[in-house]
Amino acid sequence: MKIAVILGTRPEIIKMAPIIDEILKRNIDLTVIHTGQHYDKEMSDNFFLDLEIPAPDYNIHVGSGSHGKQTGLMMGGIEEILLKENADIVLVQGDTNAVLAGALVASKLHIPVGHVEAGLRSFDMTMPEEINRRACDVVSSMYFIPTEKSAINLLAEGFSRKNLFITGNTVVDACFRHLDIARKKGFEEKSLDDLNIDEMDNILTLTMHRAENVDDKSRVENVIAALRELDEMNIIFPIHPRTKKTLQDFGLFDDLNHLNHVHIIKPLGYLDFLQLTSKSSLILTDSGGLQEEAITLDVPALTLRYNTERPETVTAGGNILVGCNKDAILENAFKILNDTEFRDKMKNAVNPYGQGNAAKMTVDAIQKYYDEGLLNIEAPENIMDSFERKMHIINEDISVREFEEKNNGIIHMLFDGEEMRFPYNDLNIKGMCVSYDIFQ
Ligand code: UD1
Ligand code: UDP
Repeated sequence: MKIAVILGTRPEIIKMAPIIDEILKRNIDLTVIHTGQHYDKEMSDNFFLDLEIPAPDYNIHVGSGSHGKQTGLMMGGIEEILLKENADIVLVQGDTNAVLAGALVASKLHIPVGHVEAGLRSFDMTMPEEINRRACDVVSSMYFIPTEKSAINLLAEGFSRKNLFITGNTVVDACFRHLDIARKKGFEEKSLDDLNIDEMDNILTLTMHRAENVDDKSRVENVIAALRELDEMNIIFPIHPRTKKTLQDFGLFDDLNHLNHVHIIKPLGYLDFLQLTSKSSLILTDSGGLQEEAITLDVPALTLRYNTERPETVTAGGNILVGCNKDAILENAFKILNDTEFRDKMKNAVNPYGQGNAAKMTVDAIQKYYDEGLLNIEAPENIMDSFERKMHIINEDISVREFEEKNNGIIHMLFDGEEMRFPYNDLNIKGMCVSYDIFQ
């Protein structure tokens, strides 16, 4: 079996690293294709070193550009490589342009796509990431899904349950694996621009790079106004290159940089960043991955967004959406810093992203599909009339697996009278309403 992994940005390298590691451990053939969307050493190469994975086999060097141009260039490059690599499956991760490009190219070459971190939905179609993740899901063959809630998103959109695998998020694997290594290693002084983080208290880690925030001057001004008043904190801001550029274009970089309690530094390597976040009293971010890492590391998070595709972090109680609203940021930040009970409740929120074995579960599922001959895309032999779609209320004691065997069908949706449930094989569905397909 050969697996091709496509990645292109910082979070993809981090979240694919545990999967790459697992593939290599099992001696499965692997090709890693880097699109080159992130190219600064601090946004790309350093992560291969910190996460101890081999350098990519290919780099397409697409660089920066408009969405259409960047995605188009990626597609051309990926196609050329996939045509000669004969991969059995192509893995993409998350919601960047690499995910869109990789999924479209592979599926058109009839190579099954495995979407890692599938099923997330912000329901905000102004976000490029929402378009990418939805489009990718439509053409994927296997879905590696962080939570039950995301799996239910896919069921509700009509995806077949048999290809959905609830694995947790590989970000937990990466965090658990590297936190101890990071602590033993200590901070890389150079990357922290001589700040002695080890000696610091009251750390607030800030990251911000979402297009809808940093490309909007008034949103950036609101956040800066809030930061100005958080002067009891040591605010550490490893700045994303996009954000540095727009802050400079807006003439706001110096305003922020002159505040004594705000330390703008280069983007950190993964090990340094893990240490920084785990030592923080508070995380202020618009990053997707950081919302997940905050709840994994038991650090309260305030998210600079009005919606999130990670609602589990909010319902679990570890994350609050504050938008770019100065009053909401300050009110919640002071509450976390001053109200011990409130803070502890946020810190103790249960991590919804699994136990840190997502990579293992993902590669297990791929291996099983490969062994059973299921990693292929073929035209159906029968027309649609070959199955019927039905809906029933179940009156007997029966599990999902037993029901499916008895009816030669597969359950799509399951309602327990109040809400939609995920049809786990062993779940007893007596009293529930099921919709299912029966195969002839
Ligand atoms: C991309 C992803 C986003 C992800 C983020 C992770 C898409 C649509 N967006 O956003 O989902 O959350 O990566 O960080 O795929 N730049 C550099 N050096 C680099 C990379 C970028 O200077 O190594 C600058 C360039 O000015 C570039 C800008 O950052 O125009 C934006 O980069 P781009 O990759 O287009 O989007 P991100 O904002 O990084
Ligand atoms: N990260 C890092 N160094 C930094 C900032 C972030 O290593 O200076 C890591 C962080 O631990 C997380 C990932 O980058 O795993 C998040 O990436 P980013 O915020 O760029 O993208 P998103 O998750 O929003 O797509």
